[in-house]
Amino acid sequence: MNILAIETSCDETAIAIIKISGPKTRPSIKILSNIVASQIKLHAKFGGVVPNLAKREHQRNLTPVLLAALREANLSNSKNAPSPKPLSVSDKKRSVAKAIERQRQKSKSQFKIQNNINKILEREPELLKRFLKHILSLEVPEIDAIAVTIGPGLAPALWVGVNFARALVCLWQKPLIPVNHMEGHFFSALLEQKGPDDSKLKISALNFPALALLVSGGHTELVLTKRIGKYKIVGETLDDAAGEAFDKAARLLGLPYPGGPAISALTERKIRISVPKIPEIKLPRPMLNSKDYNFSFSGLKTAVFYLVRDLTKNYSMEKIRPVVAKEFQKAVIDVLVTKTIRAAIKYKINTVLLGGGVAANKLLRKTLAEKIKKNLPLTTCRLPLTSITGDNALMIGLAAYFTGEKKGWRTIKANANMRL
Ligand code: KG4
Ligand code: ZN
Repeated sequence: MNILAIETSCDETAIAIIKISGPKTRPSIKILSNIVASQIKLHAKFGGVVPNLAKREHQRNLTPVLLAALREANLSNSKNAPSPKPLSVSDKKRSVAKAIERQRQKSKSQFKIQNNINKILEREPELLKRFLKHILSLEVPEIDAIAVTIGPGLAPALWVGVNFARALVCLWQKPLIPVNHMEGHFFSALLEQKGPDDSKLKISALNFPALALLVSGGHTELVLTKRIGKYKIVGETLDDAAGEAFDKAARLLGLPYPGGPAISALTERKIRISVPKIPEIKLPRPMLNSKDYNFSFSGLKTAVFYLVRDLTKNYSMEKIRPVVAKEFQKAVIDVLVTKTIRAAIKYKINTVLLGGGVAANKLLRKTLAEKIKKNLPLTTCRLPLTSITGDNALMIGLAAYFTGEKKGWRTIKANANMRL
């Protein structure tokens, strides 16, 4: 089946088309297109994502991204309908009457469809304008379903994607599959490279019970699953998410948004010994020893604030930045990995998965893989390809395939606080 998937939960406008078939235990996949239009540069000026700007950008980006995705997948405007056979004279009269009737019905239904699209996109006028101009006249592409992220995420951003999907479903008369964004991150860990690059991918089998550490800008959760589509959150952050903590710590260190890549890039540079030498620093590992599997990162951010304040009394920000960044990253990863391992032992886990934007972090990937190998040698560790750790629609298409349920376009809604 060909799935067209749409993702607009935060600051990436993404559309992917995948061809996926075979049994759910071992399907085969072909990525026909996977387009991500990032808004990071725009939001970086404000130090974080501005929801209404994200909404505006999604409205502008969705149409060109869709056209690019269809083109890349070779599904755009394939006007390959066979030309009609020549008619005999007796057939002609009947067929003219039929054609008129057909045309009348067609215009009636086209009028109805356009009316519905106007209604669906009434809150996204800029998107509606582009939709009517560029999408209305397209041939119906060879896709079997349209999947869309309905939550969790920023409500104004989610609604643009949801309404766009509803309008497409209404126009092309395809089934609609609502998807949970975190479920997308979950399944992204199952994609493996088939060859030397990311162009050919395969889906690896999932051995249950599985535990996923999902770490993004809005979420940090440990998710237990014993069968596809059934999830139990066994631990989660009580305040800031890990990615959010990276973003906030980066800001305290005068680094740009998003903070995760900025901090991890800095920690990979060699630190030159400075004179006078900065004293050894140690940040707290919040909730490391709590009996549950929850996390808390807001105290760590406060500790970074005080540390930076005190150190900058004697040292320049340039000098302390790499040292504090390194210790901060280590503190977050220590807690994430320790708790994941503890939960994996407790629930006798066969597969540990990692997902979400923070899964791009090299030290996190390395530490998690090493600790699993050491403490749980029979457990498989699945890390997502770094090309799909950030938000993308490929993972939404995957989740739709594995657990999606078709819904009517009139009934689906964005749900900013959706849980697994
Ligand atoms: O999943 P994601 O792309 O968006 C959400 O669903 O929130 O995650 C974005 C988060 C940001 O907070 C960003 O700073 C963080 O992922 N991130 C990283 C790295 N790359 C992105 N955090 C740590 N290390 C990285 N290399
Ligand atoms: Zn995400």
